[in-house]
Amino acid sequence: MNNYRADYNIVTLDNRILVPAGTVLSDETMAPLVSGCGVDRRAGFLLDYRTVRSDIGEYMLHDSYSIVFSDPAVRERLLGKMSRASLPFPVLEALYYFREYDFYTYRHILMVFALTLLLAEGLIHDEASMIDEMLSAPTHDIGKINVPNTILNKSTPLTQAERKILQHHSVAGYVLLCHFFQDTANTAAKVARDHHERRDGSGYPLGIRIDNQIVELVMVSDVYDALISPRPYRPMSYNKRSALEEITSMAERGLVNWDIVKYLIILNRKERCPLNEFRVPKEKRGSPPEHNMYNVIADDETSNGPAHN
Ligand SMILES: [Fe+2]
Ligand SMILES: [Fe+2]
Repeated sequence: MNNYRADYNIVTLDNRILVPAGTVLSDETMAPLVSGCGVDRRAGFLLDYRTVRSDIGEYMLHDSYSIVFSDPAVRERLLGKMSRASLPFPVLEALYYFREYDFYTYRHILMVFALTLLLAEGLIHDEASMIDEMLSAPTHDIGKINVPNTILNKSTPLTQAERKILQHHSVAGYVLLCHFFQDTANTAAKVARDHHERRDGSGYPLGIRIDNQIVELVMVSDVYDALISPRPYRPMSYNKRSALEEITSMAERGLVNWDIVKYLIILNRKERCPLNEFRVPKEKRGSPPEHNMYNVIADDETSNGPAHN
């Protein structure tokens, strides 16, 4: 299992310690978590859970997605696909917990879900056969239930120590989802663990090179939504053009998948063309917002990746 390690306790929302700090994740240490003990086996549909369906519908109409989700038929189609996402109850509760305690993460989870499905429609040849795996996108940041709200909602740059705690959400998410799904091989857990890795090996938690369609779709949706969303640590978010500029530069440097980025640019245009005819324009699309704190670390500014994400 490649040296994944829990640097901090990994706990459920009801404060059960699944894995104590210092545990190296292995078949042996994970076995008790998937043995069927202490897990709520009930499941429910994400879109039928409390206000989730109307929330997604509302967020799709937000200005930052006004072109991407402009077509009502597309919104309907996506909502239809999302309606099939059935999740264990503790996962639904964890996602909804963010609605109250970290609204950015709640909205982000839902929009990454919608955007991942839309990208998949244009990029995955037999997308229908992969729909069950695609439905794992909304759980990618569930590990943030283990990150203190003071860090999630901090309005100034994170310190290295805080950043380390935040970055632990990927391993925490993996463990939580293995437990709730009672399966160490499920796609949702893999996506949670790997969505901050990069194609060139510059990401975390391990710094491995990622070459997996679903993880890469979530990766691009995740970065794009993080850039265009309002965050407590910056007075303004990226606008669409500057966010696309930033993510294009990541593709040029080999961090993320070029085709996914190209298709994201196409989706942000009123006049859309087929992917194989699309050429990325040479001129710059925009610059980061003023006083931007993306990538800034309080006590050390040599950062490889987003401090908040
Ligand atoms: Fe994340
Ligand atoms: Fe995320």
